[in-house]
Amino acid sequence: MKLTQEQIERFERDGYLFFPGLFSPEEMAVLKAQVPSLYAQHRPEIIREKGSDAVRTVFAAHLMNEGFAKLGRHPRMIGPAEQLFGEPVYMHQFKVNGKQAFDGDVWQWHQDYGTWQADDDMPDARAMNVSVFLDEVNEFNGPLLFIPGSHKAGALAASHDLSTTSYPLWTIDERTITDLVDRGGIVAPKGPAGSMLLFHSCLVHGSPSNMSPWNRTIVYLSLCAVSNHIRRFKRPDYIAHRDFTPITALADDCLTDRSVRIAELPLAQPA
Ligand code: SIN
Ligand code: MN
Repeated sequence: MKLTQEQIERFERDGYLFFPGLFSPEEMAVLKAQVPSLYAQHRPEIIREKGSDAVRTVFAAHLMNEGFAKLGRHPRMIGPAEQLFGEPVYMHQFKVNGKQAFDGDVWQWHQDYGTWQADDDMPDARAMNVSVFLDEVNEFNGPLLFIPGSHKAGALAASHDLSTTSYPLWTIDERTITDLVDRGGIVAPKGPAGSMLLFHSCLVHGSPSNMSPWNRTIVYLSLCAVSNHIRRFKRPDYIAHRDFTPITALADDCLTDRSVRIAELPLAQPA
């Protein structure tokens, strides 16, 4: 998939692009069918919400499961990132965020590049998230909140929050958020399952808790320009990958074409 010049300019201005319903219900059904067997596992790659068994994040699902492995090589996900960076990309991080009905907890305001720089020594903000909604995202089930244009502030000062949620995050203070929101406002892209959202790694974002009876599953590919690979290997490799091999995209119908197989799934559970 290739972005138009108008989309590239909008990405540069706002820091994100939203494609409602880009993937079909059939394609999303293939991925959704894989989720229960992932959530049933108890392993270090799967982070639960604080004080609950609800799944917050499944890291590295693309190394456990064929459907997610295909999504990690999908041309609609990979193409725009390659185009924006002008070079091949590798998978820095892959996660399925559960944000489960009633239990899904807040993600405080942050920039992803803040963490990638501080923890992983990623040289530049030449990495980005490309995400796809596995469920409808609405105003009630904890949508992502973006501050448009906030990516232009570059990497902001952040503090390491180790206590609010079950997952440590470099978060941004309220004064800075207030100033950024005064300038850019807040948006919450909402849409059906299959919607794709790509955003700059310096875009300030977060999400409220999910008080609704509806799950809000979003899958994130964090794609990094190969020349910009991380230099520090402090975090577990299922969180910050060390395999800098450029991703080769599969065919556009790979999710529904059963003849497309992924030979290597190094973290798959033995059958
Ligand atoms: C994130 O910012 O990494 C996750 C936010 C969310 O899934 O709500
Ligand atoms: Mn984030």
